Amino acid sequence: MPVVLKDHHKKFIERMITDLEGYDNKRPKGHVYRFHKHSQRVAEGMKNLAIAMGHDETMADALYWATLPHDIGKMDFPVEIWDYKDANGVPTKPPKELKHKRRAHTTRGVEMVRAYFGEDCDSDPFLKLMIDIMQNHHETLDGKGYLGKTADQLSQEVRMACIVDAADGWSIIRPHKDVSEVTPKAVYHKMSVTNVGQFDTDILSVFKEIILCPSKRSLSLQSS
Ligand SMILES: [Fe+2]
Ligand SMILES: [Fe+2]
Repeated sequence: MPVVLKDHHKKFIERMITDLEGYDNKRPKGHVYRFHKHSQRVAEGMKNLAIAMGHDETMADALYWATLPHDIGKMDFPVEIWDYKDANGVPTKPPKELKHKRRAHTTRGVEMVRAYFGEDCDSDPFLKLMIDIMQNHHETLDGKGYLGKTADQLSQEVRMACIVDAADGWSIIRPHKDVSEVTPKAVYHKMSVTNVGQFDTDILSVFKEIILCPSKRSLSLQSS
C-alpha cells in the first residue's frame, strides 16, 4: 500500500509541534537546543535527502511530515531533565545514564501516537512510517543504539532519519562544545570517521553533498 499523507495526520502533527514549542518555552531561558526548531530542521533535511536519493516529491513530502514529530515523546518528561547542570549550576554534558533515560522519548512518542490513532497505527502506511522513524531514530547499524536493534531491523527511512537527526544535534553549539566541533566539516567527520559503523555509508555519501554544500543544506547551524 502506498504511503498517503492525510489531513488528519497533518492536524495531529501540527498540534504536536505547537505543543512542543510550548514545552520549549517552559525550559530555562538561554537553553540552546529548541526541540520544535530541531524537529523542523530535521524534517526539512529528510525531504532534501529524499530528493537527492531520487524519491519523488510526494514521497519526500510524506517523509517530511513523518519525521516532523519524531521527538514529541520528549514532552512526556519533566522539562528540567533536558538542561543538565553540574553541582555548581554550570550547564554541561549530561552523564551517560541520563542520556540513556532521555532516549526513552522514542518509545514514549510512539505511545502518544498509538493512544491517538489506535489500531490504525498497524494498518495505515503513513502512520507505520511515522512510528518507524519515531521509534528507531536513535538506533545504529552496529547495534549499539538505544534499543540495540541491528542493521537488518532498520529500514531505509530510519537510516536516513538517524543521519539527519544526528547531524542536526551535533551541529548545535552547546555549553560543553567548542565552535570548531559544530562546523559541517567537523560534523561529517564525526559521522563518517569517529563514529564509523553507526550510519549507512551509502546514504551518508549522498548526505555528504548536502551537509558540505551550503546551497543544498537546510540544516541551519546555530539557529536553535
Ligand atoms: Fe530523538
Ligand atoms: Fe531529534
